[in-house]
Amino acid sequence: MHFLHVVGARPNFMKVAPVTRALAARQRVRQTLVHTGQHYDQNMSDVFFRELEIPEPDFNLAVGSGTHAEQTGQIMLRFEPVVVEQKPDRVLVYGDVNSTIAAALVCAKLQIPVAHVEAGLRSFDRSMPEEINRLLTDQLADLLFTPSPDGDRNLLREGVPRERIHFVGNVMVDTLVRLLPKAAAALPAGLPEHYALVTLHRPSNVDDLSGLKSLLDALAGIGATLPIIFPVHPRTRQKIGELGFSHSESLQLWEPQSYLQFLALQQKATVVITDSGGIQEETTFLGVPCLTLRDTTERPVTVEVGTNVIIGRDMNLLVREVKAVLNGKRKNGRIPPLWDGRAAERIARILEETG
Ligand code: UD1
Repeated sequence: MHFLHVVGARPNFMKVAPVTRALAARQRVRQTLVHTGQHYDQNMSDVFFRELEIPEPDFNLAVGSGTHAEQTGQIMLRFEPVVVEQKPDRVLVYGDVNSTIAAALVCAKLQIPVAHVEAGLRSFDRSMPEEINRLLTDQLADLLFTPSPDGDRNLLREGVPRERIHFVGNVMVDTLVRLLPKAAAALPAGLPEHYALVTLHRPSNVDDLSGLKSLLDALAGIGATLPIIFPVHPRTRQKIGELGFSHSESLQLWEPQSYLQFLALQQKATVVITDSGGIQEETTFLGVPCLTLRDTTERPVTVEVGTNVIIGRDMNLLVREVKAVLNGKRKNGRIPPLWDGRAAERIARILEETG
């Protein structure tokens, strides 16, 4: 069997790593890895390949940045000849980024079967580009691997046949479980004893300058009692630059961190404040309180079972929740079912059986 994996952006890398490893342990499997180049900076891509021990991509499409149509269109144009030449038996796509939908769409037209890893998640908010990518990819895939039972329910409601859906657990947790023992050594030096770890990159939080300013002001206020470590995504850095906001001891603006560094930072954090999807999951696994600066989540299991609290854009609520954590009133969560480090093994077994 020849499996071709497509990845493009930072959150894809920790998902593809365990699946390629689990498949490599099987006999008679050939694998090809395509990197679309959606993320291309050293610290958004290369360092993850190194730390996660992902094989060098066989193809790098080097699409880079652009509008959604430009980026998605370029990926389709550059991916089609690769997949036609490679003739894989199946293509695997990951998560919800533009690379995911672009590759799935090319394959569907060429009648190449597509498996979607991290299927079925829904925020029910179609203003998020990722929600469009999730909905469409799940309609095009014929094998859907879900991380939590809500994913199965969403897919069934959308008319996806039961036999295509497989609840396998969370592949990102596979990577976390494997690399957690190495993380402590990557903890950056000179950290305050207690700190809040912050990430922000959603267009809805960072693209509008006055909204971003009120977020940064609220964070600076929190920083007076709990220092803030904020590794800044490139699109956010650009916007912060436009605002002229400056670095301080209480609100430290850092470069994007490597996988191991960020994992170590999460594990030691008093609280994590984020608008990321994957970080809601990682904090739930680690048992660290997470405050999510979004109105919705496509990962409800992190709220229902885990340590996640949805804050929206209510800065007073954010400040109150941080105070509650500092006063020892943190939300205690549990680890969701099948987040056990073996999701990729289940995927490999199903792929072997199904083809
Ligand atoms: C993408 C995903 C998002 C995911 C995020 C993780 C989509 C629609 N969005 O958003 O779901 O949570 O990745 O990071 O696919 N840039 C660089 N260097 C890079 C990559 C990006 O400087 O290596 C800058 C560019 O200015 C670019 C901007 O960041 O225009 C946004 O990058 P893009 O890939 O369009 O979307 P993300 O915001 O990263």
